[in-house]
Amino acid sequence: MTSFDLRKHSQPTSDAVRDAILAKPGFGDYFSDHMAHVRYTTEQGWHGAEVVPYGPLSLDPAAAVLHYAQEIFEGIKAYRHADGSVWTFRPEKNAERFKKSARRLALPELDTETFLDSLRALVRTDAAWVPTPTSDADECSLYLRPFMIASEKFLGVRPSHEVDYYVIASPAAAYFGGEVKPVSIWLSQTYNRAAPGGTGFAKCGGNYAASMLAQSEAAANGCAQVAFLDAVEHKYLEELGGMNLFLVYKDGRIVTPSLSDSILDGVTRSSLLQLARESGYTPEERRVSIDEWREGAASGEITEAFACGTAAVITPIGELVTPDDRIKHDTDATGPVASALRKQLLDLQYGRVEDTNGWLTRLV
Ligand code: COI
Repeated sequence: MTSFDLRKHSQPTSDAVRDAILAKPGFGDYFSDHMAHVRYTTEQGWHGAEVVPYGPLSLDPAAAVLHYAQEIFEGIKAYRHADGSVWTFRPEKNAERFKKSARRLALPELDTETFLDSLRALVRTDAAWVPTPTSDADECSLYLRPFMIASEKFLGVRPSHEVDYYVIASPAAAYFGGEVKPVSIWLSQTYNRAAPGGTGFAKCGGNYAASMLAQSEAAANGCAQVAFLDAVEHKYLEELGGMNLFLVYKDGRIVTPSLSDSILDGVTRSSLLQLARESGYTPEERRVSIDEWREGAASGEITEAFACGTAAVITPIGELVTPDDRIKHDTDATGPVASALRKQLLDLQYGRVEDTNGWLTRLV
């Protein structure tokens, strides 16, 4: 077990201000009073675990991360249950993926135990920042953002000898805001998010930087997110700018693009594959072409599409917009399959149904 020294904030947010934030947290706008931190050097390995007041980092202008983007992150949530306890969902999977991302970005791996201890240490210190849902439809949580940066002052291009790991926490409501309703997605024709041999499977800032211009194009076309095709044939669906993708078929199949080195192995994606199977659907992981989606939507064989991720949970896709056409689904309501899976997942995460798979870990 890694023990985290605690240096408490001398002027934490007042109860009144925090309550006002928790009543309407938005996504990624506010942060709790503390952050977890662990240092790494090639000589000492991981050391100096601490929870300290949240605040600006002091980085040398020559720190490698600022120049070569040697950085990785995770996204994971803390949920308050009806009895006041606080839980997180499948954190070992995030810890494993964090190691995989670290290997690809030539960063040091952080062991699973220290990763879990860092979440526990921060959430215990800032437990008051975990919002309490007001109804079963309220998907508020404390979004946790572990991240690792290359902090060595050095401009040569090689893996950094000094690295810092942090966890920050941000109270969150629904990622797309307001009630769940189908969103429009833009199909990027011009830009690729990731390519074979690249970093697409890793959760690194560079992948998200590469999606920003396409995301702006999506917004300019009235869409909430962008979908990317494979970089080689420009034919097969990969993922959205920060979420995985599922198509629902009339005959009970639920299809998601199979993992490759250009697709992120989403924790929500993998959980939905299992929940769908347990609910009697037929999940399939395989290559899916954009033509299959177009033709299936037109013939009625594909009845729903949805995006999923820790931040997005399950967000229904009303239509896929391309420069030439619109692949449409029912835009007025969330489809029955997306609705049912969404409820199943949220009921599990908020402790409203039995956790038969042992996916929840208690933090407080
Ligand atoms: C997450 O779902 O946790 C992510 O990292 C996606 C990001 C777009 C918020």
